[in-house]
Amino acid sequence: MEIKGVNALVTGASSGIGKAIAIELVENGAQVWGTSQEPGRIEWQTGVKPLKLRLDRPDYVDEAWESQSMDLIGFDIIVNNAGYGVFGRYEEVPFEVWEKQIQALLTGTMKLCRLALPGLIERRGCLVNVSSIAADFPVPFMSAYNVSKAGLSAFTESVIIETNASGMRTIDFRPGDMKTGFNRNMVRNLGKNVNEGCMGKVWKRIEDRSTRSPEAMMVAKKLIKCIQRDKSGTIRAGTFFQATLAPLLSRLVTRNLVRSGNIAYYTK
Ligand SMILES: NC(=O)c1ccc[n+]([C@@H]2O[C@H](COP(=O)([O-])OP(=O)(O)OC[C@H]3O[C@@H](n4cnc5c(N)ncnc54)[C@H](OP(=O)(O)O)[C@@H]3O)[C@@H](O)[C@H]2O)c1
Repeated sequence: MEIKGVNALVTGASSGIGKAIAIELVENGAQVWGTSQEPGRIEWQTGVKPLKLRLDRPDYVDEAWESQSMDLIGFDIIVNNAGYGVFGRYEEVPFEVWEKQIQALLTGTMKLCRLALPGLIERRGCLVNVSSIAADFPVPFMSAYNVSKAGLSAFTESVIIETNASGMRTIDFRPGDMKTGFNRNMVRNLGKNVNEGCMGKVWKRIEDRSTRSPEAMMVAKKLIKCIQRDKSGTIRAGTFFQATLAPLLSRLVTRNLVRSGNIAYYTK
């Protein structure tokens, strides 16, 4: 796909991975719209046109789509990137918090796809849903995040199959750990003893890994190349270990072994 001159929408473009993708799209000559829940408080990159979007209820998505006439823009590329995490013991965190997490990452994102797909199919465009390595390797104490990302990957696979003959491309994009504001913005401290025992160890592991992670621009550049090369399907990005080796090894051994390795990695 030639990116120069196309219309692109990036959700969650105010920081991190979404911001890096928006910058790369602008650099490559696209007209870019980026979303934030509060676009007025963001210093937007040159060339990114702000839109307001909250994903945590499907009717918010409908409202944002209609009130900002997003259908009339005619997007050729849509990158569903916006999201956040909740860290806590499943039985201790209020159910409404988990529910909201799933609404934002999965149901809200599916709603946006529902609104955008007719236009994308008509223009033979490209849909990117940003899932995560968590769809392959669930992160302890992030149950609703794992559910949402695994569900989003399954949803994206369904879209790939359903639109196969249409000429549009769809990418299930699964980054590994990236150095962004993701951990800082994580909803946590809602249960007991979040910094102690097993939960403390897991959180420390997540934090340590994040500080050694690649910058968001690395995955943004990879994604743009994939869009330019008309790729469809699952694309992993990040360090060689997370994007290539771990997914490959996990296919060669039993599920029990993968699970034991995952538990040992986080808690030993
Ligand atoms: N960082 C990682 O290691 C990593 C790894 C794999 C996958 N991911 C995924 O990559 C995506 C981007 O994460 P990031 O690391 O770039 O985090 P980030 O820096 O915290 O950026 C998150 C973006 O999502 C927006 N957002 C958050 N909650 C939202 C909501 N309820 N409704 C609408 N927009 C919302 C934020 O915008 P406002 O606050 O301005 O609204 C922000 O632009 C997420 O889907 C995340 O799950 C991240």
